[in-house]
Amino acid sequence: MAVVALSTMATSSAATAGDIELGRYLSSECTTCHGAAKTDSTIPPIHGLDQKHFVEVLKAYRAKSLPNEAMRTVAGRLQDDDIAALAAYFAAAKPR
Ligand code: HEC
Repeated sequence: MAVVALSTMATSSAATAGDIELGRYLSSECTTCHGAAKTDSTIPPIHGLDQKHFVEVLKAYRAKSLPNEAMRTVAGRLQDDDIAALAAYFAAAKPR
């Protein structure tokens, strides 16, 4: 029995504007590392990051053209829509 989800139907606009609620949902994985702004950490803060930069960096990790293994693994699981959503969420989000 094949179950095919027609998930692309409602997402035609998501390529340009990220869905902040989706980004919030996906962000829990990121904030385990990119949590509060800790000054003694080697993990860079990503809250308030410029959306364009954010998207470029995540796609570069996904394409394995940036070196960090953890980020390659994380980014490898993301679709373009997920990256846009995360960019929109983190651009507006404040660290807790
Ligand atoms: C296992 C820990 C870990 C997780 C989980 C993680 N990251 Fe990262 N991330 C890092 C580290 C470490 C770096 C810095 C890598 C380097 O400097 O080479 C980084 C770098 C980044 C950068 C680049 C920041 C800059 O200023 O250029 C972005 C953007 C980013 N991560 C977004 C995310 C997003 C979005 C998620 C969730 C989908 C995520 N990360 C999950 C550890 C993590």
